[in-house]
Amino acid sequence: MLHDSNERYGSLTRFFHWVMAVLVLQQFFKFADRINDGEHWLGDTFGPWHGSIGAVIFVLVILRLIWTMKQRAQRPVNAGLDGRIATAAHRLMYLSMLVMPVLGVLYVHGKGYPVKIFGYELLSKPATEEVPWALAFGEWHSPFAFLLIFLVLAHIAGALYHHFIEKDDVLKRMI
Ligand code: HEM
Ligand code: HEM
Repeated sequence: MLHDSNERYGSLTRFFHWVMAVLVLQQFFKFADRINDGEHWLGDTFGPWHGSIGAVIFVLVILRLIWTMKQRAQRPVNAGLDGRIATAAHRLMYLSMLVMPVLGVLYVHGKGYPVKIFGYELLSKPATEEVPWALAFGEWHSPFAFLLIFLVLAHIAGALYHHFIEKDDVLKRMI
């Protein structure tokens, strides 16, 4: 079924979730640029696509948020304290997926480079060597990356805990 119900997530929610999970997880390969002065095959392979995939995530998360709002009244409910924590984590993940692409663009612009998305020049090279206001925002890209990877790891651990320890249907309703 396309729509969500109180028992399980519908096909469109699951499509958004798993496609975006893959896209977000591969964005984390950018952390590999920290290894060996950026000379790492993971960074070399995925790095050139980082901004473009980030832009795809941005478009998808807006569509997903609209869909999520529409499904709100008929979604599985997360009860209790751990349910409230899970819901808060979901909201923070949405926030991160929304602001990170914007901060990434501001970082590149702030550093004085053109911003290219799949070869299309979204922002041309700024006239000055650096754009301080853009960089001031853009420098939050990395702290958000750490917040998001922490949330995602806790989120995956929570899903596995429900499936293998609690043996309930929390993971099944998203598969
Ligand atoms: C949801 C989308 C995105 C995610 C999850 C993401 C994730 C990350 C991560 C994990 C890092 C490594 C941070 C670190 O080592 O401290 C990073 C760095 C970076 N990202 Fe993104 N990113 C996203 C979107 C974008 C976009 C759209 C752009 C630009 C168009 C961009 C540009 C950059 C740049 C230039 C760096 C290197 C920053 C540095 O050297 O400190 N990112 N990103
Ligand atoms: C192997 C990786 C992952 C697993 C096993 C997983 C599992 C799950 C499960 C079981 C749910 C339903 C939880 C519930 O009903 O309370 C869920 C929901 C959710 N997950 Fe994941 N997830 C993964 C990766 C990700 C990633 C990378 C993100 C984004 C950064 C993400 C974002 C969300 C969000 C926002 C929800 C709330 C439901 C929605 O609005 O779509 N997940 N996930």
